[in-house]
Amino acid sequence: MIESRWRVHNPEGTMRVVATKELPGTAWIEILAGAGCRIDVCSSEAILGREEIEAAIGERCHGCIGQLTEPWGAGLFERLAAAGGRTYSNYAVGYNNVDLDAATRNRIPVGNTPGVLTETTAEMAVALTFAAARRVVEGDRFMRAGKFEGWLPSLFLGELLWRRTVGVVGAGRIGAAYARMMAEGHKMDVIYCDLRPNRHLEDAVASYGHFLAAEGRRPVICRRAESLEELLREADVVSLHTVLDASTRHLIDRERLALMKENAVLVNSSRGPLIDEQALVEHCRGNPSFRAALDVFEDEPRMKPGLEDLPNVVMVPHIGSATRWTREGMAVLAASNVAGILRGFPVWGRPDMLPFLGPNPPDAAPSIVNAEALGLPLFKE
Ligand code: DGY
Repeated sequence: MIESRWRVHNPEGTMRVVATKELPGTAWIEILAGAGCRIDVCSSEAILGREEIEAAIGERCHGCIGQLTEPWGAGLFERLAAAGGRTYSNYAVGYNNVDLDAATRNRIPVGNTPGVLTETTAEMAVALTFAAARRVVEGDRFMRAGKFEGWLPSLFLGELLWRRTVGVVGAGRIGAAYARMMAEGHKMDVIYCDLRPNRHLEDAVASYGHFLAAEGRRPVICRRAESLEELLREADVVSLHTVLDASTRHLIDRERLALMKENAVLVNSSRGPLIDEQALVEHCRGNPSFRAALDVFEDEPRMKPGLEDLPNVVMVPHIGSATRWTREGMAVLAASNVAGILRGFPVWGRPDMLPFLGPNPPDAAPSIVNAEALGLPLFKE
């Protein structure tokens, strides 16, 4: 471990927790210190590799908070277990960087941070949708280049999304929140694809449709597509909110891009490898009216060659969850996962995470994704 890159909080703590990055806010430090932990925090912004994390774990480490950019595979979990580690939390809701089976084999509960990213990430997907449809970034570049010489009837014509159809791939918390923002805010009909029906989303959009109808306006509708292909053919906007696993890698490939409307908008704020990015480059090149808006990238942080040259692609650097409230909330949940397990608390097992952000958090670990596989007890009132 390179000493200068690490900061220690609560050095007298009897258990040792390693956090591979500084996290926003101070509440998370207080939670871990309150559980009797010394906290070693890596203060460098460089992404740590396996060897550096192993060195940080050292001979004695009871828990870790890691990042989605790190390879939490069998090697690290074996090392953590050998150092006396009893828990790990990802500082993210997604955990495709974690080998869950390896963690479970090593009896390490793995936490994540759901419930505090929902609206924040959905808002970013909305922002990207309109930035792409209304050519906001192209217009901004044009202004900065001093090219604006006066209003013109056809300058930067984009797409009106009002009353059109949004396709949502993956109608979990974030996908459903995005769908509702687009239906309630922009009166878009919703078509969604998911392994399971989302009745709550369907009912919410139906209720909103009744409200519109009662005002004498055309209602909005929400229905589950028979297939992804059907959704891609019908939607004017397609937004990806599904998890990344072997079944969803390159879910949007050359063939499926070809099914989409010529002037459709494709938004990805989930994980980069859901899209075959090389195929997307070629598709955007050949279809100038098609637009893509990306928060995440297949070879993050790199872009596939050609992507940066395309005017019909809008990009931001994986900042979907980047609001202060959310990132501080994620830190509280990650710390509460680690502290909760170290204190022997049961697992919360409920979708509402907000009690953990309040003054009297429950005596529970908020979200442990392999709780069932490890047979961990659930919180009871
Ligand atoms: C996550 O949490 O999975 C996001 O990608 C980063 O906030």
